[in-house]
Formats: sequence, structure tokens, C-alpha cells
Amino acid sequence: MQSSTANLRNTFSNLMDEDCETKKRIGKLQSLYSAKEIKNVMEDGELDYPHEKSHPEGMSFELSDVNFSYPTTQKKESSLSSVNLKIHSGSVVVIVGSNGSGKSTLIRLLSRLYEPTSWTYRTTSLRESSILLSQDHNIFPMDSAEKGGAKEFIEKLDKGFDTIIHPMVAIAANKLEHQPDHPLQEEKKKISKKSNISGGEQQRVVAARAFMRMNSGKIRFVAVDEPTSALDSEGELQLFTRLLEAREGKTMVFVTHRFGYLTKHADMIVCMKNGTVEEVGTHSELYANKTGEYTKLYNIQANAFLADS
Ligand SMILES: Nc1ncnc2c1ncn2[C@@H]1O[C@H](COP(=O)(O)OP(=O)(O)OP(=O)(O)O)[C@@H](O)[C@H]1O
Ligand SMILES: [Mg+2]
Repeated sequence: MQSSTANLRNTFSNLMDEDCETKKRIGKLQSLYSAKEIKNVMEDGELDYPHEKSHPEGMSFELSDVNFSYPTTQKKESSLSSVNLKIHSGSVVVIVGSNGSGKSTLIRLLSRLYEPTSWTYRTTSLRESSILLSQDHNIFPMDSAEKGGAKEFIEKLDKGFDTIIHPMVAIAANKLEHQPDHPLQEEKKKISKKSNISGGEQQRVVAARAFMRMNSGKIRFVAVDEPTSALDSEGELQLFTRLLEAREGKTMVFVTHRFGYLTKHADMIVCMKNGTVEEVGTHSELYANKTGEYTKLYNIQANAFLADS
């Protein structure tokens, strides 16, 4: 009895210990619940989207004199200043411009990740009707599919479509460590092995997710912010082609640094510079201005190809 009592006391004192796993986990659980208490400071609209008056061909946008600074920034200049832009429903728009010119910021505003000064539609229903393929993404443990160009490499994985990318199961059986011949060792290896996939393969999975969401039939807006930086040229072309094939009933806005396929297919190209819209037009319109920002960026890329020949 003495020994049991001592054991019990030990167990309780371990539970109170600073480094105790249980205590840490309870702490994490607590923060999970307290996240529910965080109030959404964004004011919401009242109408659902799509609405009877909304365009069936896709979402339309009108930005009038938009200025934007990130709430956390210490910089004096705004990330966007005096942006005026009309995006017609069903159009394909390509945004180009140098690093930091405000392309992603513009796309985040269109996707309503930040607060505009006036609003009509309910944020949740707007989000249900929009897809944002962005530069930074999260891969969740279960994901997949074909149109994103992911099918081929997924089938090559040991468990194919049943692969769990980041296994969440932590092995609690610590004592196994000291028993290399234990029959459970094999099982342990299987569970803890991670399926490492490359950056480009991750982007394919993320793209696949976007196509999966299109099946909902609710999507009216697709924003694509350079999700192809790690894709090989063939993968990039395939992704853009497939996205454009799915354009019916959707407005599509792409951000890209690579001129060519997309800029050729765009109904409108928006060229950004230092947070402002510098030029708007089609490729031939913008390229006609020989001293313009668009022509400058275009020629830099074209010359890089010519330089070697
Ligand atoms: N989360 C953020 N917090 C504070 N400032 C930001 C944030 N994101 C961007 N900025 C600033 O806003 C400006 C515009 O950035 P943005 O990301 O829109 O540029 P971009 O055109 O997408 O560039 P890139 O071609 O590098 O993707 C930059 O000056 C940048 O430093
Ligand atoms: Mg960006």
C-alpha cells in the first residue's frame, strides 16, 4: 500500500510538473477553445452571394480610389494607393509588375481577406464562391487529384491516393525504444514514415484542391497568385490551360512574372508599379507604348532568351 500511495503521489506531482506533456496538451486544448472567442472585426454584408442580381458569367469588381496599408506595417507608403479598376464578369485578367508593386495585396483585397470601406455581400458566401490559389499555402494531411497535375506522382507513392502526407500519429509507446526486436517495431516504422513530396508536387496538390472546389458549382471568382513558381514549364502550362478551360461562369485574375501564354489570353492586363495601377490594356495595346512599364518588363524577359542566341 505504501508503494502504491507513493506511486499515486508521484503521478499527481508529475501532472503538476512544468514540463509535463499532459499539462502542455491541456494548455493547447485551452487555446483551441479560446480561439472560438476571438471576435471577427470585419463588418459583414447581408446579402448572400451569388445573388439573383449577380452576374451568372462570374463576379464583377469595381475598385474606386482604393488605398491600403497593412495593419501591422510600420512603412509610411501604402501598399496600394488610389487604385481604380473595373473587372468585368467573366473576364480573364492578368496582373503583372515588379516585386512589391502590390499585386498580391490587390488579389487579397479582391478575395476579401482584408476590410474594404463598404460591403454588400456576406463574407462566408463570397468565400464559398471564390478560390484563391496563392503564393503561400498549407497542405492538409488528406488531399488529392487529377486536374491539378497531381495524379501521376500520387500514383507513384507507396500508398497512392491513401497516402497521409503529414502523419499526425505520434507513437506513445516509448518503451519500444529499448526493445529493437519487438514485433511492434515494424508497425511503428510504417506509421512514423513521412511522405516527402517536393515543392512542385505540393503545388500540384494545392491546384487539385482548387479544381475539387469548382465541383461545388458555386465558384464565380478564381484568383491565382503565382502558384506555379515551383512547377516545371510543362506543369505550369498544363495548369493554366486547365484553369482557362474551366473559365465559363467565372472571373479569373492571375498574377504572373512570366509573360507569354497568360498575357496572350488575357482580356485585360493590369500593370502595377509602387502600389499604383500604372497601365491597363491588352498585350498589344500596352506593348505599343514603347516607354511603358509593361514593355520594359516584357523586354527584360524577351532579351534574356535572345541573349544566348
Ligand atoms: N503581410 C504584410 N504585412 C505588411 N506589409 C506587407 C505585407 N504583405 C505585403 N506587404 C507590403 O506591401 C507592398 C506590396 O506587397 P505585395 O505582396 O502586394 O507585392 P507583390 O507585387 O505581390 O510582390 P511579389 O512579386 O514579390 O509577390 C510591399 O511593400 C510589401 O512589403
Ligand atoms: Mg506577390
